[in-house]
Amino acid sequence: MIAAPLAPHEQLQGRHFLDLADFHPAELRALLRLARELKSAPSLVARPLLRGRTLALLFEKPSLRTRVSFEVAITSLGGQALFATGGEMLVGTRETPEDAARVLSRYVDAVVIRTHEHEPLERFAAAAGVPVINGLSALAHPCQAFADVLTMEEHFGSLEGLRVVYLGDARNNVATSLAQAVVMLGGSMRFASPLSHRPREATLQQLAKLGARAGGRVRAFTDPVRALRGADVVYTDVWTSMGEEHLHERNAAMLLPYAVTERAFSFTAPHAVFMHCLPAHRGQEVEAGVIDGARSLVFDQAENRLHAQRALLVALITDGKGTSI
Ligand code: CP
Ligand code: NVA
Repeated sequence: MIAAPLAPHEQLQGRHFLDLADFHPAELRALLRLARELKSAPSLVARPLLRGRTLALLFEKPSLRTRVSFEVAITSLGGQALFATGGEMLVGTRETPEDAARVLSRYVDAVVIRTHEHEPLERFAAAAGVPVINGLSALAHPCQAFADVLTMEEHFGSLEGLRVVYLGDARNNVATSLAQAVVMLGGSMRFASPLSHRPREATLQQLAKLGARAGGRVRAFTDPVRALRGADVVYTDVWTSMGEEHLHERNAAMLLPYAVTERAFSFTAPHAVFMHCLPAHRGQEVEAGVIDGARSLVFDQAENRLHAQRALLVALITDGKGTSI
């Protein structure tokens, strides 16, 4: 299937991908179209759309999915990846993020950065002459959310009116980006968490504004049962994110009522599915029977990281010649 051409405001070449709120819903829909097109047309993927292009991955935190899916995405389209972690090339320790960005922009065609803080990423992007992609920061994980809504669209056809419930640490990076993507596409996003882990007011306000354009809605609950009523998708993530390990005991105690159990699904719509960005901890945020059961989409979701990121790289690095964009 060949997707419709991008409208002028959907031109994505040269843009950064730091936070989904920087994008118009039409741009997110265009990326989703391209991801579906690349996924459903293996012959297109076999074409070297990124021949001779180099992607640098600079990671300050561990990764399985993000690293490997980006490396496979660019190499399968004819390009190459180089990966640096540890003390090798960290952003802002040996030199300013601005200097690192100016130098790398002379060598590579795009950069994926996984950082602790979001601010050095923004400084790096502001000085970079090539697209910079957020591969997870303390605030956002937009690549994950892009793959998540691709998975929801595949399963349900559309996000319009879809009820997505996120249980657990509702102020983390994954929760924030997921909610942005859901409301931008007209879905209804519900968070269930204790007040200590409730999204910040500014985030809720931003989500309400983002959703207003597309009919998306957002609500935060403390009672998981109220949040779960009628849910189509139940989503959770680790209770303690990377870099916050000192909060592990506190989070485990406070978030226990928000674990995704078989019982939680007795309050949802009968067809409800389970999603998790992975890595997961069975017996903590999710019961083994749920994540390993028939309603779990977690491995389709993980696979879609690859398809979504192929689309992202083609859209940000190229002018779309050779594809329908
Ligand atoms: N979901 C995700 O980003 O996984 P990694 O931390 O393994 O990259
Ligand atoms: N919230 C998690 C996501 C891991 C993919 C973290 O930041 O560690």
